[in-house]
Amino acid sequence: MLDSQTKVNNKSLRIAVLVSGSGSNLQVLINAMQAGALPIEIVGVISNREDAYAITRANDASIPVAVLSHVASGKRMGIKTFETHASAQLSAWQPDLIVLAGFMRVLSGAFIENAPAPMINLHPALLPAYKGLDTHQRAIQTGERNHGCSIHVVTAELDAGAVLTQALLEVNQKDTADSLQARVQQGEHQLLPWTILLIAKGIIDLNNPHNNAESSYLPALPLKLWINN
Ligand code: GRF
Repeated sequence: MLDSQTKVNNKSLRIAVLVSGSGSNLQVLINAMQAGALPIEIVGVISNREDAYAITRANDASIPVAVLSHVASGKRMGIKTFETHASAQLSAWQPDLIVLAGFMRVLSGAFIENAPAPMINLHPALLPAYKGLDTHQRAIQTGERNHGCSIHVVTAELDAGAVLTQALLEVNQKDTADSLQARVQQGEHQLLPWTILLIAKGIIDLNNPHNNAESSYLPALPLKLWINN
């Protein structure tokens, strides 16, 4: 649960970030933290890949990193072992919020339910459309006029928790899966810090995500951001 004192005292929100790849979204959070633009402290990063560039980004910012590679010494680390190590690490860091930013392993319901903090995920599609993988290609094949990304609460069911925010863009006729991915990612880089700011300020209440926090006069979730790129 998000500690109400964290909001009241304007303390920094302690964030743990789980990654698998480049970590461009992690970098946006690092930059915002270092610039004082977001009231956050990134207390640690967990990567399930030892070749993830996100690790370099965290090291460069002197953020603690735990590499829990899914393949170590030629052996595959099962999800249960990964989750045991990740749980211990998260408990040690005591985050207020866990952010899955390009994290590509599917977590078990037990891990999610017993996590020491609420968990949000960045998904590259306008949920509930296009859960799972290859979202950009599928959106183009369907002939979608709009596409984008979503941030949702992580629950045991994949990509199915309450959708908090979305960034939307128009699909161009010339768009390929790659160009769309690049444009959606620009949206992600705005959506993630914005969403975390709303959580840190208590405007989005993760304990009661459908009712928009203390104020029923705020717009209903998901809050939407249009991207012109
Ligand atoms: C993002 O596009 C996210 O939507 C997807 O993985 C990508 C992660 O990018 N799930 P990065 O590692 O933050 O650069």
